[in-house]
Amino acid sequence: MIGVAVFGASGYAGAELIRLIAGHPEMELRHVSAGRMAGKRLGEVLPSIGDYCAELILADGTAPLADGVDLAFTALPHGAAAATVARLLAQGCRVVDLSADFRHPNLNNYRDAYGTDHPQPALTTQAVYGLSEWQREAIGSTNLVANPGCYPTSVLLPLLPLLQTDLLNCDRIIVDAKSGTSGAGRSPKQTTLFCEINESIAAYGLPRHRHQWEMEEWAENLGCNRPISIPFTPHIIPMTRGMLATIYLHGNDPSSWHAILDQRYADEPFVRVLPAGQLPATGGVAGSNRCDIGIVVRDDHNAVLVSCIDNLLKGAAGQALQNANLMFALDEQSGLSPLGVWP
Ligand SMILES: NC(=O)c1ccc[n+]([C@@H]2O[C@H](COP(=O)([O-])OP(=O)(O)OC[C@H]3O[C@@H](n4cnc5c(N)ncnc54)[C@H](OP(=O)(O)O)[C@@H]3O)[C@@H](O)[C@H]2O)c1
Repeated sequence: MIGVAVFGASGYAGAELIRLIAGHPEMELRHVSAGRMAGKRLGEVLPSIGDYCAELILADGTAPLADGVDLAFTALPHGAAAATVARLLAQGCRVVDLSADFRHPNLNNYRDAYGTDHPQPALTTQAVYGLSEWQREAIGSTNLVANPGCYPTSVLLPLLPLLQTDLLNCDRIIVDAKSGTSGAGRSPKQTTLFCEINESIAAYGLPRHRHQWEMEEWAENLGCNRPISIPFTPHIIPMTRGMLATIYLHGNDPSSWHAILDQRYADEPFVRVLPAGQLPATGGVAGSNRCDIGIVVRDDHNAVLVSCIDNLLKGAAGQALQNANLMFALDEQSGLSPLGVWP
């Protein structure tokens, strides 16, 4: 069995990781840690886990690791994650980091997006950006995976196959995206209070949300091989989980784009291209590690892509486990389901 630690186990992504690890045939949860909740029983802070590891005590983030930990998931806020990751790597652990701390090989982008210099610049060169379907080989041979952000996952998966062609006008891509409130994490904030969010929808993060740097950096690195601008407006909407990205595209021969996507993802268990003209909804992917993609052609030069993920699964814990499976040469689908919960 692979011994696993979850840092940030009292948060939403941490809770999802623990649920997935519980169902993984080759992983065993050995260590959990938290910030303010350190010292409490896991069962006390996570209502969802039943008796599974309920008696584990949440360690302080700096406490010594339990014996036999081979793999750590760090689901901590950006900035706080980097030092923990450095310590874990030094102890010989392999790490999947769910924060933004290692997603930017271009450290200027990290500084511009997060308003501070990178806390561990030397480590960024060994991190592999964990967009699983695009980086399998590199993920399999690294000790540090930077798990992608939820919005970038929902945008890059549908966009990259088209960016690799010469059909897309790369200067005319616009992304409008929506997220459920679990995307903002469990720590209380005024903007996610019931009274502020219920019956309301709001744009935020403008003029330039942090994830725009990540989308642009990896659209260039994995897609078009040149700097690209992707204007992006996120919205928070009154639902618990789910993310929908609407991507407006301009270029040549859009009627051929569905086939390009369909071919690229034909053998992927966690990316589904819907029949031409059919559009996905967040309800169809909730609880699953799937990204559903739809495309509608508007006219000879314009099309709209729509993609949906569960922000806590393909957007966070699910993709993190998919990456861990790749790191340890396990079945990539182990512990993960492409099926959602419905209704
Ligand atoms: N939510 C999503 O949909 C999503 C998607 C993709 C990526 N992510 C990323 O995943 C990470 C976790 O997100 P989340 O939504 O799970 O956040 P969250 O619900 O707010 O949980 C954060 C976790 O980190 C712990 N923590 C906070 N500050 C800490 C510190 N200074 N030292 C040690 N532990 C600390 C918290 O412990 P206490 O509560 O005990 O203080 C909690 O366990 C973030 O980097 C986030 O950007 C989240």
